[in-house]
Amino acid sequence: MPRASPPMPATKPTPARPAQPAAPLTGQHAHEIQAFGAVVPAPIALAESARLASVANLNQVLADTMTLRDLYKKHHWQVSGATFHELHLLFDKHYEQQVEFVDELAERIMMLGGISLAMAADVAEATLIPRPPKGREEVPVMISRLLHAHEVVLTGSRTMARQASADGDDGTNDLLVSSLIRGNEMQAWFLAEHLVDTPLVRADGGPGASRR
Ligand SMILES: [Fe+2]
Repeated sequence: MPRASPPMPATKPTPARPAQPAAPLTGQHAHEIQAFGAVVPAPIALAESARLASVANLNQVLADTMTLRDLYKKHHWQVSGATFHELHLLFDKHYEQQVEFVDELAERIMMLGGISLAMAADVAEATLIPRPPKGREEVPVMISRLLHAHEVVLTGSRTMARQASADGDDGTNDLLVSSLIRGNEMQAWFLAEHLVDTPLVRADGGPGASRR
């Protein structure tokens, strides 16, 4: 049974002056100070149109990167079989690198004057990576799923890097090329090598093959 979420505390007017100066003023609510999708001025000598385009593009890569990050943790926990130990560690190593990419992307969006996506429900709405089942899958399926997610990130990042370069947003271009593209290509290589069907003990066609 899903748990019911606790209700938000009722809105209370902010007291003009607390009865005791050391009392925390909890339960405060107010309107947003910047809407999602809007950009505020940023003193970085970059046109608003370029910053708007980069913020929108970076939020897409951010949503996909957060999804890939969480896919790695799911597989870190749920992996099984003869390669459990190695993959358990590899998936967590890639997870940690994806955590860094998420922070770099989100902070780049903010320094461009935009608002970064943050919460799971918003990320789930935005990502282009297919939702995996809640249950456990076999290792080759896990790796195939991760490789597809990497290609989603890489396809978007390459297109967006070219647009950022054309718009004069070299910082966004550098982030996408140096961190996202190179990092995801490296992780995809480490994954893909696990799907090569090589003999574990006896070489195919080698001296011992006839004894099989
Ligand atoms: Fe762990």
